[in-house]
Amino acid sequence: MVLETERLVLREMKPEDDQALFLVLGDPENMRHYPCTFDERNVKDWIERNRNRCEKDGFELWAVCLKETGEVIGDCGLTLQKIHGEILPEIGFHIRRDCQRNGYAKEAAGAVRDWAFGTTDVPAVYSYCRYTNGPSIKTAESIGMHVVCEYPDETNGMTHVSAITRKEWLEEITENTVL
Ligand SMILES: CC(C)(COP(=O)(O)OP(=O)(O)OC[C@H]1O[C@@H](n2cnc3c(N)ncnc32)[C@H](O)[C@@H]1OP(=O)(O)O)[C@@H](O)C(=O)NCCC(=O)NCCS
Repeated sequence: MVLETERLVLREMKPEDDQALFLVLGDPENMRHYPCTFDERNVKDWIERNRNRCEKDGFELWAVCLKETGEVIGDCGLTLQKIHGEILPEIGFHIRRDCQRNGYAKEAAGAVRDWAFGTTDVPAVYSYCRYTNGPSIKTAESIGMHVVCEYPDETNGMTHVSAITRKEWLEEITENTVL
């Protein structure tokens, strides 16, 4: 499975993406809203877990690559997550720090949203993070999501949940379609 956008390719993670993804997930500053930063072993496990998710669920977090060079600059995709006690489809994203603020997360997450509604029957897609993670919340909003709730939990202290429903997505497409 490969998703293409104007500047990006999203493809299945490979074991040899570990060094590139370590630069993203092993960066303490980038992971400041997470309970911990990944070490090299965690990154290898992360890649393996995502490769297995595809077989089990039909989707996963994909490697985000620059179309021009093929360089892996992060990950983005759809996974099933326990959010406020429910198993829900979640769009996740991590972009290497020196590549941020270029619209890459928005571009990748928008493509994942369209893929989710276009090829699966999920009624809504979600995004969740620690309530202090402004860049993550802003990225969710940039693809049409809105706040659903905040709830206290052990990992995040307070978790912030955003979502867009299929109906809202369809309305947005219709509004943006030039007749
Ligand atoms: C969240 C993250 C993926 C955003 O990546 P990015 O490529 O810089 O995001 P984009 O450039 O596509 O920006 C998306 C939107 O968020 C906004 N945004 C991104 N970073 C921001 C920041 N630091 N402060 C304010 N707004 C920010 C952008 O302005 C844009 O909104 P707009 O389209 O309305 O202008 C990146 O900050 C990251 O990897 N963070 C660490 C990992 C993480 O916490 N991931 C979330 C998992 S819960």
